[in-house]
Amino acid sequence: MLMNDSDRKNLGFSTRAIHPVRREEDDGIRPHTPPIYQTSTFLFEDVDQGARRFAGDESGYIYSRLGNPTIRILEETAADLENAGDGAAFASGMGAISAVLMQVLSSGDHLVASRTLYGCTYSLMQGILPRMGVEVTFVDATDLSAIESALRPNTRALYAETPANPSMDLVDLEGFAALGEEAGVLTIVDNTFMSPYLQRPLDWGIDIVVHSATKYIGGHGDVVAGLVASDAEFIASLKGEAMKDIGAIIGPFDAWLLIRGLKTLQLRMQRHSENAQCIAEWLEEHPRVRKVNYPGLPSHPQHDLARKQNPRGLFGGMISFEMCGGYEAGRDLLNGVRLCTLAVSLGATDTLIEHPASMTHSTIDEEDQLKVGITPGLVRLSVGVEDCEDLIRDLERAMEKL
Ligand SMILES: Cc1ncc(COP(=O)(O)O)c(C=O)c1O
Repeated sequence: MLMNDSDRKNLGFSTRAIHPVRREEDDGIRPHTPPIYQTSTFLFEDVDQGARRFAGDESGYIYSRLGNPTIRILEETAADLENAGDGAAFASGMGAISAVLMQVLSSGDHLVASRTLYGCTYSLMQGILPRMGVEVTFVDATDLSAIESALRPNTRALYAETPANPSMDLVDLEGFAALGEEAGVLTIVDNTFMSPYLQRPLDWGIDIVVHSATKYIGGHGDVVAGLVASDAEFIASLKGEAMKDIGAIIGPFDAWLLIRGLKTLQLRMQRHSENAQCIAEWLEEHPRVRKVNYPGLPSHPQHDLARKQNPRGLFGGMISFEMCGGYEAGRDLLNGVRLCTLAVSLGATDTLIEHPASMTHSTIDEEDQLKVGITPGLVRLSVGVEDCEDLIRDLERAMEKL
């Protein structure tokens, strides 16, 4: 028998992640894992049924850009884990973010965004949105009064990442949501760095959550995907317009990989966080490191906020740190590691190391990079789930060679 919504309500996070939402009646075959409906279109019994489905008078699948049973399992399971009314899956994190912004904003609107964002989110807001008649003001989102002062009568939405990529600055989700509510504008938060296991922005009153599911949700570095979670009304409008008409949809196999990824999310996040905490503490003591940005360190300026927003006492797998010796020291460290993988992206089982200024955040000009702490010597580490001692040994050996 399939579990119903009220059965799920009382289950813990891990149980809900391991048992995806499955609504399809079985056809006698009953596979243990959800089938991959690798089909672009669906058959109608007759012309009248096709017309009824297009008119919305009958539920049922039509065409995979409009919906697909494998993708639907992912969307409902991910939404459930974010405590959202519904979810929508996309071909990439940027596909999800751009669809949400297209859905929410119109020409003449104004957006207030954190100035510390993933490079392509920043360049979408700095380049494409203004070309479409949307004004964007970038602010220091760690300061709620700066957000408030940027509000205008035509402000339609507030946007932030927390922790932000790569500064690891936090946004006070409760205060951010309250500001949005008072001003009557939507709040959108990118929850990629934490995943719903460690942080659920909707619980703090945020309206819309976006993810690069490429990262922790997929978890194995083998899929590029995005997710949106919000109330059912917003998701219906997103699916009916920006998803349907722009079409950055996920493929059924990629959706299946994410359904599988979710099953181990809690185990991986726990280990990512424990390893990252240990490495952050080690880096902080290292004479070749000037500064470590990790919310789990008492030296992080928003450590108390981190503890409030992450009640499990786990602060995720992302660390950024600044080397003494600037660009050359950072470059030599990245070239010197053997176990850590020199690659962008994050949230994989192996540890990834990269240089934000020349890689993930190179779309931001140098002056703006410096304003948000992306110095030439800044290194970003996505700590994996390996044995922590091996990672420290690898970093130590590379540091010794500097
Ligand atoms: C915080 C954050 N949001 C969004 C994205 C974009 O996601 P994707 O690469 O899946 O399009 C990234 C990519 O690195 C990211 O780090």
